[in-house]
Amino acid sequence: MNSNRKLHLGLFLFSTGYHPAGWRLTESVADGAFDPKFLQRVAQRLEEAKFDFFFLGDALASSADMQYQFPSQMVRMEPFTMIAHLTAVTDKIGLIVTANTTYAEPYHIARQTASLDYLSSGRTAWNVVTGADARAAQNFSREKHWDNARRYDYAEEFVQIVKDLWDSWEDDVFVRDKATGVYVDETKVHALNHKGAHFSVAGPLNVARPPQGQIPLLSAGTSERSQELGAQFSNVIFTGQVLLEDAQAFYASIKGKLAKYGRSKDELFIMPGLAPLVGRTEEEARAKYRELSELLVTNFDLKPLSDRIGIDLTAYPLDGPLPELSLSTLPIKEVTAIVGLAQKASGHADITVRELFHYFSAIARGHRLIVGSPEQIADQMEEWFVGEAADGFNICPPYLPGGLDLFIDLVVPELQRRGLFRIEYEGSTFREHFGLSRPESVWAKQKQAALQGE
Ligand SMILES: Cc1cc2nc3c(=O)[nH]c(=O)nc-3n(C[C@H](O)[C@H](O)[C@H](O)COP(=O)(O)O)c2cc1C
Repeated sequence: MNSNRKLHLGLFLFSTGYHPAGWRLTESVADGAFDPKFLQRVAQRLEEAKFDFFFLGDALASSADMQYQFPSQMVRMEPFTMIAHLTAVTDKIGLIVTANTTYAEPYHIARQTASLDYLSSGRTAWNVVTGADARAAQNFSREKHWDNARRYDYAEEFVQIVKDLWDSWEDDVFVRDKATGVYVDETKVHALNHKGAHFSVAGPLNVARPPQGQIPLLSAGTSERSQELGAQFSNVIFTGQVLLEDAQAFYASIKGKLAKYGRSKDELFIMPGLAPLVGRTEEEARAKYRELSELLVTNFDLKPLSDRIGIDLTAYPLDGPLPELSLSTLPIKEVTAIVGLAQKASGHADITVRELFHYFSAIARGHRLIVGSPEQIADQMEEWFVGEAADGFNICPPYLPGGLDLFIDLVVPELQRRGLFRIEYEGSTFREHFGLSRPESVWAKQKQAALQGE
């Protein structure tokens, strides 16, 4: 393992806060999703703190009943449009767009991402998703959302085409000779003439090779197929892990798949989500956690929580103690670890069913929530980073902007003091933030190989 290894930090934007009730705090901004000034301020703060990237997820369906659990995913701006705006008010921060391969065409995505890479001077990355929301099918004239195998077959071919389209124009194709009138060297422009199982794409792309050559890819699936796609193509894998042991197993599994694609372990970074509820002191953080818990709008449906801990909680009073954990159908170590997170957040061991429910509502999107002082939060980040559970974190502030400001003002300096996080940017592109070199195009590589063979 590289001894100069530094952790990476991104923001996973939930404009109303990661906590479902985050927007209800008096100090929170409730309408940030559609306020360009608010989004600019967030991006600029991240850049001041030397974050690696700003990440915006996306889905292609919505409904009003998402409001109590996922308000920030219910309505939000289209990512390419929003990120294009942010390119103009930032200089360093990486900018990630999410685009779904199931409902798009490779030519469109290649053009849009390459254009954004120009607008951002090489700060763009693409989060490849195949669609977590099956309701999208009804918005795209399909009868139903494809199954996992079909979506990933399609995605694999799709991604390869996009990568080839980015290489359509060699880096030194432009002659622009005013004397002769020659604009490009036609021998350095390449069509694809791709005909595959799902697509036929002639090319070339009508955008020049993007500044980063190949735009970095990200992915976030959990299925075997998605992990393979990630191991083959991705530079960053997002994941949702709440327990250290699970995160370590996931990390080892993904890194173990790289060799068969001829890739090394430092070409792919694993970044779990993390929701830090920071206080100047532990007690201040707890008080904020209690305030957020009380603001949840819920009918206390205990079924999902019962499944998660392997004990039917519906028979127990909400304000009574938890049943014996040995009643669980799950391995005792796992249940103890899960319940332990809620005990830690609440600050005492004798939590009630209601308190357990509060913690689970706060992590319903699958990312660990840590309630604590800056040092306590940095300790857990360090443990995961050193223990090879994470190469960095996709930070999900529980409320905005205060939850992000506290993280930046108090936790980032602590990470810097410990030598875990950069003090200055090392470069200006997404690739440079991750120490990834700019790849040669397939055509340049072919030429080099031919020359060496001569
Ligand atoms: C941190 C994280 C972010 C994700 N962001 C999105 C997203 O923006 N849009 C989307 O459709 N799916 C998103 N997903 C879902 C995954 O892409 C994936 O579809 C899901 O985890 C199910 O896995 P599978 O596709 O391997 O079955 C995200 C998942 C994680 C863990």
